[in-house]
Amino acid sequence: MNSTPTAAPHSPFGWIEEQTAARAAAGLHRELRPRPAQSPLLDLAGNDYLGLSRHPEVTRAGADACLHWGAGATGSRLVTGSTALHAELEAEIADFTGFDAALVLASGYAANLAAVTALTAHGTLLVSDAANHASLIDGCRLSRARTEVVPHADPDAVRKALAGHTGRAVVVSDSVFSVDGDAAPLAELAAAARENGAALLVDDAHGLGVLGDGGRGAVHAAGLAGAPDVVCTATLSKALGAQGGVVLGPAAVIDHLVNAARTFIFDTGLAPAAAGAALGALRLLRREPERAGRALAAARTFHRLLTAAGLDATAPDACVVSVRAPSPSAAVEWAAACRSAGLSVGCFRPPSVPDGVSRLRLTANAGLTDEQIATAVSTVVATAPPGA
Ligand SMILES: Cc1ncc(COP(=O)(O)O)c(C=O)c1O
Repeated sequence: MNSTPTAAPHSPFGWIEEQTAARAAAGLHRELRPRPAQSPLLDLAGNDYLGLSRHPEVTRAGADACLHWGAGATGSRLVTGSTALHAELEAEIADFTGFDAALVLASGYAANLAAVTALTAHGTLLVSDAANHASLIDGCRLSRARTEVVPHADPDAVRKALAGHTGRAVVVSDSVFSVDGDAAPLAELAAAARENGAALLVDDAHGLGVLGDGGRGAVHAAGLAGAPDVVCTATLSKALGAQGGVVLGPAAVIDHLVNAARTFIFDTGLAPAAAGAALGALRLLRREPERAGRALAAARTFHRLLTAAGLDATAPDACVVSVRAPSPSAAVEWAAACRSAGLSVGCFRPPSVPDGVSRLRLTANAGLTDEQIATAVSTVVATAPPGA
């Protein structure tokens, strides 16, 4: 028997300590902060743009769906996870947004992975905006396509990227960019794609419910809904106040996704409570289209007041207003100071921001009063770090 003592193997997770220390030193450490059901803070961090996640009609629709269909979908959509409720939601959301057909998935993230990967193959060219959401970026990475990242909101760069490519191509863009809240030039992107026989895939996560006629979304507003070469994804978790994601497009595309999109096929169907709540929210939105206008007006007021106070705030095309911070740690301290003063704001730092610029992110919602807006602005201004 060999009695030579063996060195203690080092921990397979030892490297995590180093990464944790590096993150902390750069002001990039993140931690979870569970919120209470009834928070005393004014919420400008969530994405409940229309105030529907707590609306009694929406929560009732979710609860009823849970009681009727069960707590879970029980299986993937192609096995036992499709219910009449899922079909109803898909038909209504397609009708509302102006598309032929819809497919509901477990999240907006899964919807983006599904659309990008199922619409591309080895040899496809993906042309992706530099400021696209992480889920579109991950879709590009997962696909076997060649991805060309083009400068932000630049249809000419898209044209240049597509020029000379002879096979299949897909242009991918957020409709409203989640960090700065600016809108993509959708009509010009569609023209650039069309000239080159490419499809256009738009993530309307921040447009559905707040932009377009009655909240029908940015793609509808650009006159592109239902076009044979346009596919749209969205989340059910922002303006609709529920959970889940959707892909909207021509019926043949949706049928293809059912057969080819791995994040659809190999994932348990959306929980009935979420599907029911999203459907309840959609019906409410049809009845109360003025909610969208209130949320947009609040965002514009935030921008006007913050800019007048000398802060570097982005002009919002939907509900997101972001305010530049001088550094990641200043952003974290600024958000913490706002929280101590009763205001919850988002804090974006690398790697969530591709340009490396840290920001506070304020999301407007339809329920804000003028007084709340004024108080929130004076809190953000009073707690601003030097250099902001
Ligand atoms: C632009 C964008 N796309 C997709 C998503 C993902 O949606 P979900 O949260 O439903 O997964 C988000 C946000 O979370 C988003 O901001």
